[in-house]
Amino acid sequence: MGNDLEKVLLSESEINARLDQLAAAIDADYKGRDLLLVGVLKGAIMVMADLSRRLHTPVQMDWMAVSSYGSGTKSSGVVRILKDLEADLHGRNVLIVEDIVDSGLTLSWLLGNLRSRGAASVEVATLLRKPEAAKVNVDVRYVGFDIPAEFVVGYGLDYAENYRTLPFIGTLAPHVYEGRGA
Ligand code: IMP
Repeated sequence: MGNDLEKVLLSESEINARLDQLAAAIDADYKGRDLLLVGVLKGAIMVMADLSRRLHTPVQMDWMAVSSYGSGTKSSGVVRILKDLEADLHGRNVLIVEDIVDSGLTLSWLLGNLRSRGAASVEVATLLRKPEAAKVNVDVRYVGFDIPAEFVVGYGLDYAENYRTLPFIGTLAPHVYEGRGA
């Protein structure tokens, strides 16, 4: 697997240090309030696990799986729900936990969808954001790192379902895309 990776973009310790800061900011903002974390499967599992365990605010957790119609790896913004939430959002403070915001189309749709369910508030925390790839302006309250518009893997993010368990964020070597690796 080592040969498939081009470079490490964010190390495990950099990610951990940033998660400490994000958790402190979330705790300060939601002090004394009830909070529902909504993870977007599957990429957000690592962020959800590590961010939620840093919070002192009592939280509940729920999960959603969505699929974006589009060609290849490009998101179209037309989203289908594969797994819906179990929680009733009425009157809840909701924090969507995301791995990465790329074009922003999926998240933009998700925000509209969850807001229409009567939540008291809906905000977003994402580990990564690619500002150069943004197609829509989405208000993301908590951002771990702004990164270049490169395809990254690790820490929950996959390429063809591989690399999710890497403890860091890295970029893939070109031969992986060309079908000779992975
Ligand atoms: P968006 O609608 O373009 O913002 O798509 C966001 C989704 O695309 C993320 O939740 C990821 O599943 C996937 N994605 C976008 N960029 C990457 C990447 O660099 N690596 C792995 N998955 C990515």
